[in-house]
Amino acid sequence: MKEKSAPLMVVSLMMIMMIIRPCLGRFVVEKNNLKVTSPDSLKGVYECAIGNFGVPQYGGTMGGIVVFPKSNEKACKTFSDDEIPYKSKPGGHPIFLLVDRGECYFTLKAWNAQTGGAAAVLVEDDRIEPLITMDTPEEGAAQDDYVQNITIPSALISKALGDKIKKAVKNGEVVHISLDWRETVPHPDERVEYEFWTNSNDECGPKCDAQIEFVKEFKGAAQILEKKGYTRFTPHYITWYCPEAFILSRQCTTQCINRGRYCAPDPEQDFSVGYDGKDVVLQNLRQACFFKVANDSGKPWLWWDYVSDFAIRCPMRAKRFTKECADRVIRSLGVDLKKVDECIGDPDADVENPVLKAEQEAQIGHDTRGDVTMLPTLIVNNRQYRGKLARNAVLKAICAGFEETTEPSLCLTPDIETNECLENNGGCWQDKHANLTACRDTFRGRVCECPTVQGVKFVGDGYVHCEASGLFRCKINNGGCWQDTRGGRTYSACVDEHTHGCKCPPGFRGDGVRSCEDIDECKEKVACQCPECNCKNTWGSYECSCKNGLLYMQEHDICISKDGSSRVGWAFIWVITLGLAAAGLGAYVVYKYRIRRYMDSEIRAIMAQYMPLDSNVEIAGHDSHESI
Ligand SMILES: *[C@@H]1O[C@H](CO)[C@@H](O)[C@H](O)[C@H]1NC(C)=O
Ligand SMILES: *[C@@H]1O[C@H](CO)[C@@H](O)[C@H](O)[C@H]1NC(C)=O
Ligand SMILES: *[C@@H]1O[C@H](CO)[C@@H](O)[C@H](O)[C@H]1NC(C)=O
Repeated sequence: MKEKSAPLMVVSLMMIMMIIRPCLGRFVVEKNNLKVTSPDSLKGVYECAIGNFGVPQYGGTMGGIVVFPKSNEKACKTFSDDEIPYKSKPGGHPIFLLVDRGECYFTLKAWNAQTGGAAAVLVEDDRIEPLITMDTPEEGAAQDDYVQNITIPSALISKALGDKIKKAVKNGEVVHISLDWRETVPHPDERVEYEFWTNSNDECGPKCDAQIEFVKEFKGAAQILEKKGYTRFTPHYITWYCPEAFILSRQCTTQCINRGRYCAPDPEQDFSVGYDGKDVVLQNLRQACFFKVANDSGKPWLWWDYVSDFAIRCPMRAKRFTKECADRVIRSLGVDLKKVDECIGDPDADVENPVLKAEQEAQIGHDTRGDVTMLPTLIVNNRQYRGKLARNAVLKAICAGFEETTEPSLCLTPDIETNECLENNGGCWQDKHANLTACRDTFRGRVCECPTVQGVKFVGDGYVHCEASGLFRCKINNGGCWQDTRGGRTYSACVDEHTHGCKCPPGFRGDGVRSCEDIDECKEKVACQCPECNCKNTWGSYECSCKNGLLYMQEHDICISKDGSSRVGWAFIWVITLGLAAAGLGAYVVYKYRIRRYMDSEIRAIMAQYMPLDSNVEIAGHDSHESI
């Protein structure tokens, strides 16, 4: 619960150190969208403020229905079974528990909501005011144990919206809302810039432990992203300065370097024991310089190794928080120690240190980012990260800084996915039988995309339809087509050469996808129909045998005798032979007749030369003959 503006940081032991800009600090409340989808009377997009704990689903959305408890409205006590009137069942709608602000820490409300089965907690403000950021309790004030275990996202909503939702629920309406974090991190380009404001002090309790735990846990992901050019990471260190009047005081000389210019609080808050603030500033400066030198040599990711190795090898507890120990770590990482020392310069000199000066300037907020006054602070694409400082939660926020489809593959790995595919297959296409699905979990939520399996690409809308395409498509699940084996014979409706679709093979009919039915060639009289034929249907084909020891010729669908001729054949040959004979006889008769006629006309012509004949008769006779 805070809105910390820090014109003046009053550090323990009455030590006064000032943050670089002594005017009003600026604190930016990070927001995301809350969309009410039903009832109609409430439909719309509202603002809510992201809590600084739990795991906001950066880059994604989350839908559910709003429920508020029958009693324990402020959620300061553990919920009993009947206090939350509706329990989310597997496959059911997630529950957004709406609770009232006040009486206890925001984190306790979230924890009670989480243990009560809620998927998210909405805290209704108890006064009319601009939204604030719900924060974790001050150190030591609560058991950090449960705070670290909060995994549900939380949002503060205005009193006006909360009251409207309550009214609707009381009237028996079901209020569906969706929380949307997609635009929470801007994505101006293909690279995500992020900053981590930290501290080399390892003895400040849970906050320091959380910082170093985070560095160790996030190192692997950070280095992959940096090496591949997806991100530009910059570590930062907060320092304070000593007001002019106190520069020569014991406080300032033990807490500051460069004559009161750069200070850090004493780790034990006791000047007489252990390390001084000065030692912390120096180690901070060494880490900043290490980054600068590593960055200049093109290997900025070495910072992650240095900081985690330093924490392991040179802890304050073991009294190894020294330059010698730090130098050993630097040397083992192969970074130029001389350059690091040059960058650090002389801490006792009355001069500016360019690196720390730049750090102090960077503390001042600009654009969408507030002043940095707290440790640790993570800033992604110039927006302050809200939520738990844990690998997957932070990775989600960084991944959300990429335009969709340009995110690195690390963002699509199983450990930061949303597991939405587990429920009803995310509403995507699937073929349970072949164990194929179009549902893919990503940190943004699930996407329905037809899969590529063993090099075979599936095409379709991904929701209701996907089918294998291209060469070898029949290899996967038989291309989604019908296939069956009986008595050692397999028939398939998939044809590799066809780019898509299924077609029942000859002898079958059907849609080719779910079924192909055998065609009964005998009943349907499509084959084996000769009188001597004896038809027997088989699966996918038919068998035809002939009576009286005849042989079946499938090409002609006839029966023939075993010596090479069938009765049908005989009859046929007889017809042909007789036909040929008749034709031959006819031709002979015509020939004979024509010869005779020819001779007749020759004789007549010869005779006409000797005696007059009636030429008219001759022509008429000739004509009648030609017309036969
Ligand atoms: C938090 O989680 C840790 C590790 O999973 C577990 O040991 C601890 O008991 C949890 N704390 C609470 C309050 O549930
Ligand atoms: C790190 O190096 C890049 C170029 O290599 C440069 O643009 C960037 O400003 C450097 N960052 C720091 C903090 O020196
Ligand atoms: C289905 O496939 C997934 C991944 O390809 C595998 O993990 C799972 O065990 C398979 N399930 C069955 C029933 O084959």
